[in-house]
Amino acid sequence: MIRRLFCFLLITLSVNTFAQTNTKVTPEQQKKMDTFVTNLMSKMTLDEKIGQLNLVSVGFDVTGPIVSKNVNENIEKGNVGGVFNTYTPDAVRKLQDIAVKHSRLKIPLIFGYDVIHGHKTIFPIPLALASSWDLGMIKNSASIAAAEASADGLNWVFSPMVDIARDPRWGRIAEGAGEDTWLGSQIAKAMVEGYQGTSYDTNKVMTCVKHFALYGAVEAGRDYNTVDMSDRRMMGEYLPPYKAAIDAGAGSVMSSFNEINGVPSTGNKWLMTDLLRKQWGFTGFVATDYTAIDEMIPHGMGKTQADVAKVAIDAGTDMDMVSEAYLNNLKKLVKDGKVPMAEVDASCRRVLEAKYKLGLFADPYRYCNDQRAEKTIMKPAYLEAALEAAKRSIVLLKNSNNVLPLKMSGSIALIGPLADDSRDMIGPWSGAGDWEKSVSVIQGIKQLAGNQVKINYARGANILTDTGMIGRLDQPQGTLTIDKRPSAEMIDEAVRAAKNSDVIVAVVGESAGMTGEAASRSNIGLPGDQEDLLKALKATGKPMVVVLMNGRPLTLTWENDNANGILETWFAGTEAGNAIADILFGAYNPSAKITATFPQNVGQLPLYYSHKNTGRPYVGDFLERYKSRYLDVSNDPLYPFGYGLSYTTFNYGDVMLSSSTIKPGQLLHITTKITNTGKYDGEEVVQLYTRQMVGSVTRPVEELKNFKKIFLKAGESQDVTFIISSNDLRFYDINMKYTYEPGDFKVFVGTNSRDVKEADFKLTK
Ligand code: BGC
Repeated sequence: MIRRLFCFLLITLSVNTFAQTNTKVTPEQQKKMDTFVTNLMSKMTLDEKIGQLNLVSVGFDVTGPIVSKNVNENIEKGNVGGVFNTYTPDAVRKLQDIAVKHSRLKIPLIFGYDVIHGHKTIFPIPLALASSWDLGMIKNSASIAAAEASADGLNWVFSPMVDIARDPRWGRIAEGAGEDTWLGSQIAKAMVEGYQGTSYDTNKVMTCVKHFALYGAVEAGRDYNTVDMSDRRMMGEYLPPYKAAIDAGAGSVMSSFNEINGVPSTGNKWLMTDLLRKQWGFTGFVATDYTAIDEMIPHGMGKTQADVAKVAIDAGTDMDMVSEAYLNNLKKLVKDGKVPMAEVDASCRRVLEAKYKLGLFADPYRYCNDQRAEKTIMKPAYLEAALEAAKRSIVLLKNSNNVLPLKMSGSIALIGPLADDSRDMIGPWSGAGDWEKSVSVIQGIKQLAGNQVKINYARGANILTDTGMIGRLDQPQGTLTIDKRPSAEMIDEAVRAAKNSDVIVAVVGESAGMTGEAASRSNIGLPGDQEDLLKALKATGKPMVVVLMNGRPLTLTWENDNANGILETWFAGTEAGNAIADILFGAYNPSAKITATFPQNVGQLPLYYSHKNTGRPYVGDFLERYKSRYLDVSNDPLYPFGYGLSYTTFNYGDVMLSSSTIKPGQLLHITTKITNTGKYDGEEVVQLYTRQMVGSVTRPVEELKNFKKIFLKAGESQDVTFIISSNDLRFYDINMKYTYEPGDFKVFVGTNSRDVKEADFKLTK
């Protein structure tokens, strides 16, 4: 016992917390850390080293088919390096106690959790946050999430999710920034900076960038499915956001479930070692996704757990989430000479370094402070920030004849299964979110409008009617309430409410459990009877505003043709109801723009703005036959990337260039005058795209290069200038060299990717 205590003291006294200017390690800090870790590792047995590579799940939020067993006993034996799904200072302290009081070397545990869009105070889902095009706000949301999570015992978050996604059948499109590489990279950086800050202070957490890699490109949008992709597309379009997160200092990376060109990520040496570590210089650790090592058996990478454990460790994957494949097999693999000891050492070192950086050796209870938890969690300033974030993330998709904003008088038929629902609106991956404190739409409207507006509420429909599908939903993520009345009765009640009201506000969409993980859909229209409900409401002849809650682009052609107004609120988080009320009544003028294309129908998928032109581009003449087109639908999206309306209107002047030619290294100034031509003050996301007309390989018809979100008072104008150089025009050329090529370019400035003004310039040698 005395020896144990001495050992613990030695460890704690020799380490300071990691004070630094950013979360990347300086050479001096690296030296100190090396000495400490080398010293510790010299005392560790092979079993203890393997133990550090074992990540177990303890708690309620199980996202895979199996759960960890004998956890306390394993921690005591030194068989556990980290725990996830456990939070609150008390619960964390109990497990940390076992590690630092009862295990031989007293190595503290790291505590992880899926903090995806807030911890307790829930922010809009990431796809919604991205729609704000507000990097400062996004960074702040991650910073608040870090403050709450770290006050609640956690020090490691499984976020940001930076998978580019271009197929909304995939439920996990909700968790990322959408379809664009450039914007996705900016957001990845902002989130890492928000979570980690400039040093691992106690109110910061280590990030785990996921899902490395290309998980968003699973075939047919079906979760866990195969990815097969050209190197050029991979390097140019899908990998940059992960790289951006790593360049911003992300401390860890999570392997994805999918294979990449025949090799699952978790066992992919090219990915984890050659690219991530050797090319990109990543020095943190890689954890697998949930049971991803075991899953390499059905993938066909080995017959036994030992086979796939070897594949994973050889690839450079450090920590095993839940499979216990390392725990069960690595020792024998090393003893039999099948896995070099150096691989286990390298992985163990990386995990210990993460704990060192987080200051856990100095104080294993750094994140367990009940008073801090009480003072921090859901404090008014955070709710205020969540409200602001929600307002800035909600997209106005349609507003004919200015049906919105609503008048603060008369009566509203407030209809729909999501109008009085405070659970679904906080969305998927909000496990710790206190949904009972979230504000529903009906509450938000009542709080804002008080007695000035009469509200006639009717549920109108259930979100889902298909009992098979209800059974398949991830229930903890969305506790679906079902009204047992027959559909017709519910619709009749809603129609009566509509007839007695001046305007209809129908709050419809998906339940939270229909989005996120294991929530792919082959039909992405409004589920259940909701469209029938809308049709019956429309037949009353009353003006109808559709308020959507959902986690993916939906197919909304009927709604677009028939509703007077459409507000895409996504799952807007704890303050959703207040934000929606503010927008409905004009207290806030919407400024968000979608970052994932809305298709007309599911058969168009995948559909994204930065596509290639093809040899037979279809330009919209319906009689053109031998063109790249469908017979039954145009190639157009319903709403293009970057689209979103405001209560005011903006006029774009011509695009003025500082020069019609630039040389490499010279700057091109691109200026457009934007005028607020409407009656409201408002914000506009001014977007800049380019196109390289001819290349050594074919180039996309448009690529986002920058944007500016500007505020203009009604009637006001502003010149918006972007500056680009040859560096912004780089891509992977015919030889896979990241470079620019002289030639003709177009530059586009616009309110979305479709409605743009253009100009031409040349890049000369
Ligand atoms: C998900 C990850 C998540 C992990 C831990 C997996 O099923 O794919 O995104 O971080 O579970 O909950």
